[in-house]
Amino acid sequence: MNIRVLDSQEQLDDIAAEYLIGAVERRPDAVLGLATGSTPIGIYEKMVEKHRSRHISFREATTFNLDEYVGLAPDHEQSYASYMNKHLFQHIDLPATHAHLPNGMAASLEEECKHYERMLAEQPVDIQLLGLGHNGHIGFNEPGDTLSGDTHAVVLQERTRDANARFFDSKDDVPTHAITMGVGSILKAKTIILAVRGADKADIVREALFGPISTECPASLLQTHGDVIVLLDREAGRKLS
Ligand code: F6R
Repeated sequence: MNIRVLDSQEQLDDIAAEYLIGAVERRPDAVLGLATGSTPIGIYEKMVEKHRSRHISFREATTFNLDEYVGLAPDHEQSYASYMNKHLFQHIDLPATHAHLPNGMAASLEEECKHYERMLAEQPVDIQLLGLGHNGHIGFNEPGDTLSGDTHAVVLQERTRDANARFFDSKDDVPTHAITMGVGSILKAKTIILAVRGADKADIVREALFGPISTECPASLLQTHGDVIVLLDREAGRKLS
């Protein structure tokens, strides 16, 4: 693992954005794996800036998002599809047909998961951006006795629903289920960038990077991948030394 503790939020955003857009600059048909949440917002801002200033086109690129809530239509304000449009897609020239998110409104979630996994097999992710949950989740792969390898539907843990309630009018509005790429699907990406900010993540960062590899901390499975870049701000990295 290549672990970097950065001096500022700005630096973290810039470096992560450079990895992602750099992949598209080098290979215009690159496949990017994307995340939502608060961490990537600044990263996407930087990507948009670089797209404009360096005229890097996403016309041939493809993106796959990690996850989506079940029961929220793509145009729902809190759907991850809306988030991606707001923070990235509407500002770049990525064709809408190249931007993939699991369909949380699918009649059969099982079929949707299989379909998503097939698309990922056909267009493997070159570089995957991840955030880290307080409980060690990546995507919506929550801690537990077992982890699913492939894309699957999950019941969200209360702690995760609590953390995400800030984006909804009330906790009751937070969906109870989601579709997520599995840890196996995530680990198939050629390169993974784990971006983490904030003192409240310092303990879980240490556990994920240096603790035992365990389904109780899904991010610890990243230790088994050969090309992970960890970008931390000072607060998230403060328990590492
Ligand atoms: C979002 C996702 C989640 C978040 C994680 C951290 O697509 O997959 O695993 O990355 O919950 O969220 P923030 O960045 O809001 O702390």
